[in-house]
Amino acid sequence: MDYNGIMAFKPDDTICFCFHVPLRKIEAFCRIEKPTAASQISDCLSAGTGCGWCRPMLKKIHLRICGSHDPWWRQSPADNNSASNTAENSAAGLTHPPADDSRPGRTDDTDPAQYARGRRAYIAAGEGKPPEQA
Ligand code: FES
Repeated sequence: MDYNGIMAFKPDDTICFCFHVPLRKIEAFCRIEKPTAASQISDCLSAGTGCGWCRPMLKKIHLRICGSHDPWWRQSPADNNSASNTAENSAAGLTHPPADDSRPGRTDDTDPAQYARGRRAYIAAGEGKPPEQA
């Protein structure tokens, strides 16, 4: 069963393995603190500050609960729904990086077991280093 119709994760499923942070705590943090950037979720039990595996998932949770936040300094008149402006911005490297990371184990339709296996493979491949205590 999908959790909130978006993710197959249940509230007690672990999102950040390095610091053992479950989905429930991250969602509560987002609802209460309303962080403007996903990186601020690190204030929630240090989630995302270890190997880095969970960061794309933290971004998705943040986007789902807090929505997107474009600070004024990133906005420009070119942001006003013009396809040509979008193409120009893209060519100039001015567009935001995609919020989605499509590597295996990081998509919304991933189940918790797949997500955990993906993290193990990520660590085994040397892509991230968990903290000493994790
Ligand atoms: S799983 Fe979250 S930082 Fe490693």
